Amino acid sequence: MIKFDSTNAFLEEDIVSYQQQVNELHEAIVNKTGKGNDFLGWVDWSENYDKAEFEQIKKSAAYVRENCDVFIVCGIGGSYLGARAAIEMINGLYADKKPEVIFFGNTFSSTYVAQVLEYIKDKEICVNVISKSGTTTETALAFRLLKQFMEAKYGKEESSKRILATTDIEKGTLHDIAAKEGYQTFSIPSDIGGRYSIITAVGLLPIAVAGISIDDLMDGVKEAFVDFADADLTKNSAYAYAVARRILQNQGKDAEMFVSYDLNTSMLAEWWKQLFGESEGKEGKGILPCSGTFSTDLHSLGQFVQDGKKLLFETVVTFEKPIIDVVFPSDEDNADGMNYLAGKSLDWVNKMAMQGTLEAHVEEGNVPNLILTAPDMSAKSFGYLCYFYFRACAMTCYMIDVNPFNQPGVEVYKKNMFKLLGKN
Ligand code: PA5
Repeated sequence: MIKFDSTNAFLEEDIVSYQQQVNELHEAIVNKTGKGNDFLGWVDWSENYDKAEFEQIKKSAAYVRENCDVFIVCGIGGSYLGARAAIEMINGLYADKKPEVIFFGNTFSSTYVAQVLEYIKDKEICVNVISKSGTTTETALAFRLLKQFMEAKYGKEESSKRILATTDIEKGTLHDIAAKEGYQTFSIPSDIGGRYSIITAVGLLPIAVAGISIDDLMDGVKEAFVDFADADLTKNSAYAYAVARRILQNQGKDAEMFVSYDLNTSMLAEWWKQLFGESEGKEGKGILPCSGTFSTDLHSLGQFVQDGKKLLFETVVTFEKPIIDVVFPSDEDNADGMNYLAGKSLDWVNKMAMQGTLEAHVEEGNVPNLILTAPDMSAKSFGYLCYFYFRACAMTCYMIDVNPFNQPGVEVYKKNMFKLLGKN
């Protein structure tokens, strides 16, 4: 389902020359024997997920859709990025869908927090608080404010129906609060880490609330699981992409720009940045993930890509079909001189911009470009793409002997912050 093209990447080594190493690491992934192997639950999740919980997610989503104008998703990092990426990519940015989904618990910004609380004051609200650890400060702080807001607005009993918690199945602060208050609870499996949890209740509940078919999404995950069972680099696009990244870094490219041509996929790029940045960037190793949404960012970052220091390669993620297309109209006066596009579709214009940019960056800028092509922006394609990236990420990390499933570097800021905040 995902086509991978490395013909514009100036690769100095053959991808297939890595086949033997990839075969060994593939075994470490599928047999769950590689580094961080207690977090490889996502590998066969499409076969093993809890079907009863999956049905409960759909039921709860239906309840939320009937009972609120605004659905607040309270979580940070892997506990919100995937859901936001999915909802924006699949529905678009201005879909006329109820309820409105607002992301909260992902910042200490007082302005943002105060404005959200003011905005929801007179609206019907449901909340999904999501935290695997249950102790993440941004989320816990925001949730206390939300809980007090909900109880003042609805009273304790009604609030407990309108608040849903997604957290560790057995333990933790949020788990205990949910049990005490009687919230409907969804579980995060202990062997699936935050940034791999989009395909669990973490992502699925908000996605279902947004009116998206989680059956279709899981079909995409399942299809990718089947497709990537074969490690053959001429067939396995996820592994071919993983290897191409390593070859490019060996050629001195220490940054990768995720390039898309649709504004509704900019959160997909944010999700990808977390997945690859937090998984790969450790022990002084890794490729810096950054992103550009073109053509918008061609009017800003484009200058650097074309003409600046040659430190990056681009991976263009393109979709054969947009959600909606627009035909450009003719104009009698043609005062703006735009009649040369009359009758053309906007998606065609966008694709021509992509083609022209590719030639400019590759041929004149000498910037290596990898291209990933997905058929459309459906829930199924999203599920497939997520799993594609999971496999690619695990493989590319294992190739440099990095554990893709921990994040020791994130603890350093927390330690300093807690000291300053006076936390015991
Ligand atoms: O990928 C990860 O594990 C992290 O980014 C977490 O998702 C993030 O820190 C939030 O953690 P939690 O769900 O425990 O609140």
